[in-house]
Amino acid sequence: MRKTACFFLIFILIILLEVPCLFSGQKSQNGWTARQVYLENCAACHGRDRSGFIGTPLVSAKLAARSEAAIRSLILYGIENTLMPVWSCRLTQPQIRQLAFYLKETPAEIVRKVTVDSDGRCNIAEIEKWWRDSQRIAKGEVLFEEYCMGCHHQTIEAFAPSFGEIAGNRDVTAIAGQIKFPWSSSAILGYTDQKMPVFGLTDSEIKNLGAYVHSFRE
Ligand code: HEC
Ligand code: HEC
Repeated sequence: MRKTACFFLIFILIILLEVPCLFSGQKSQNGWTARQVYLENCAACHGRDRSGFIGTPLVSAKLAARSEAAIRSLILYGIENTLMPVWSCRLTQPQIRQLAFYLKETPAEIVRKVTVDSDGRCNIAEIEKWWRDSQRIAKGEVLFEEYCMGCHHQTIEAFAPSFGEIAGNRDVTAIAGQIKFPWSSSAILGYTDQKMPVFGLTDSEIKNLGAYVHSFRE
C-alpha cells in the first residue's frame, strides 16, 4: 500500500516537472514568441507599434515589396553602415524565421495609417482612437450577432475564448489582426491549431468588430 502511494507521488511529481517544459516547448514552436522577441529586441528602434522611431517603420505597406526570405536576411546580417544590427549571433534561426513571418503577415497599420510615397518615405498619420468610437462599437455588436455569436460569448467561455478574456489580454491591433488573418494570427497568439474561420469582412467592419471586442476591457 505504501509502495503504491509512493509510486503515485513520484508520478505526480514527474507530471508537475513536465508541465513547464511542455509550455516552453509550445512557446518556442509557435509564433506567439515572435511578438515577444520583437518587443525585446526591435521595439526600441522600430517602435512598439512598428510605426518606426530610430529605425524605419516595419509595416506591411513598407515590407510588401520584400519577400519573406529577403526580410530574413536583412535581420540575419543587418544593414551595413546603419544602426540596424546583425542578429545572426543574437537570435536563433527559428526566431528569425518567425520574426520575418510576423512582420510580413500581421497588419500593424490597422492602428496607424502608414502610407509610403514614391521616394520610399513613410508618412504616419496621428493615432486616431477609432476603437473608442461608440458608433463603431454599436455597429460591431450587430456584426457580432451575425458572425461570431455561435462560437464566442461576450463574457462566458464558449467554443472559443470570451470577449472579456480576449480584451483583457490583447491590444486592439492583435484583435483586429486575428479577425483579418486568423490562419496566421492564431499561431502568433499561441494556439496550436487554427479553428476560427475567415470572414469576408471589409477593413471597416473589422475595425467595428475590433472596437466591440476591445470594449469588454475592464
Ligand atoms: C539600434 C536600432 C535598431 C534595432 C535594435 C533594430 N533595428 Fe532594424 N533597422 C534599424 C535602422 C536604422 C534601419 C534602417 C536602415 C537603413 O537606413 O536602411 C533598420 C531596418 C530594418 C529592416 C529593413 C526595413 C526596410 O524596409 O528597409 C528590417 C526588416 C529590420 N530593420 C528589422 C529589424 C528587426 C526584426 C529587429 C529586431 C530583431 C531590428 N530591426 C532591430 C535600426 C534597428
Ligand atoms: C467557428 C467558431 C468561431 C467563429 C464563428 C468565430 N471565432 Fe473567433 N475564435 C475561435 C477559436 C476556436 C479561437 C481560438 C483560436 C483558434 O483556434 O483559431 C478564436 C479566437 C479569436 C480571437 C483571438 C483570441 C485571443 O486569444 O486573443 C479573436 C479576437 C476572435 N476570435 C474574434 C472573433 C470575432 C470578432 C468573430 C466574429 C467575426 C469570431 N471570432 C468568430 C472560433 C470562432
